[in-house]
Amino acid sequence: MTVHFIGAGPGAADLLTLRGRDLIARCPVCLYAGSLVPEAVLAHCLDGARIVNTASMDLDAIMADIAAAHAAGQDVARLHSGDLSVWSAMGEQLRRLDAMGIPYSVTPGVPSFAAAAAALGAELTLPGVAQSVILTRTQGRASSMPAGETLAAFGATGATLAIHLSIQNLDRVVAELTPHYGADCPVAVVWRASWPDERIVRATLASIADEMPEGISRTALILVGPAIAATGFAESRLYAPDYDRRYRPQSADSPWAGWSDGDD
Ligand SMILES: C[S@@+](CC[C@H](N)C(=O)[O-])C[C@H]1O[C@@H](n2cnc3c(N)ncnc32)[C@H](O)[C@@H]1O
Repeated sequence: MTVHFIGAGPGAADLLTLRGRDLIARCPVCLYAGSLVPEAVLAHCLDGARIVNTASMDLDAIMADIAAAHAAGQDVARLHSGDLSVWSAMGEQLRRLDAMGIPYSVTPGVPSFAAAAAALGAELTLPGVAQSVILTRTQGRASSMPAGETLAAFGATGATLAIHLSIQNLDRVVAELTPHYGADCPVAVVWRASWPDERIVRATLASIADEMPEGISRTALILVGPAIAATGFAESRLYAPDYDRRYRPQSADSPWAGWSDGDD
């Protein structure tokens, strides 16, 4: 018996890895974080699977459910939204499973920041504009922020920020970032990226609060930084005609001349 932690992706039922889909399809028990994982994803479950929405359960109850499946020899698919490496509460569950001696596996998923960038048609790292993406959040009721992890500190880098769990703090986000990025810095809010009712709001730090329509709450990502809407950026060196590289040596003297892995 194994508990398979599976990144269920940003919402669309076809934005799962094949491994994740196949694991879901063969587990007789599925526990899913129903506050963010839409029911469409559950279409991949085995017919007759016992499907449990854990949104209203505490950690003890979740672990008791897993222990019962373990006692019955039933594999469990444990679904969390996006990828499991960020804000999934997987860490505390793995620690309990280790203590209980229950085996598990971890299958990554498509994170919401990637789905939001895809919805925008945006590359978050553009040459000469931004070469780092910071995944962060603001303080919530359930989670405090470690000292030093402030929006001001991240804003001082000028990197692209993907701010999770914070749409309710939009005014604070704007106030803390405007001194670093400037009032005309591009911002995008993507609500329910990849869901059928996905919505996108593009604005600047100065205008985003006024541009926000009613009904955008919870499942929204705030992306901030010049890369969100940049057009005048340089082309990357990678594909420059004169760039000497392993796959495209420019002369017989190139350190890469004669090198081939057989594919190119
Ligand atoms: C508990 S965190 C989960 C993050 C998830 N593990 C991931 O990889 O993206 C929930 C936050 O992720 C963001 N989020 C999750 N799914 C989203 C989606 N489909 N569209 C926009 N934001 C989403 C929102 O900021 C939401 O408040």
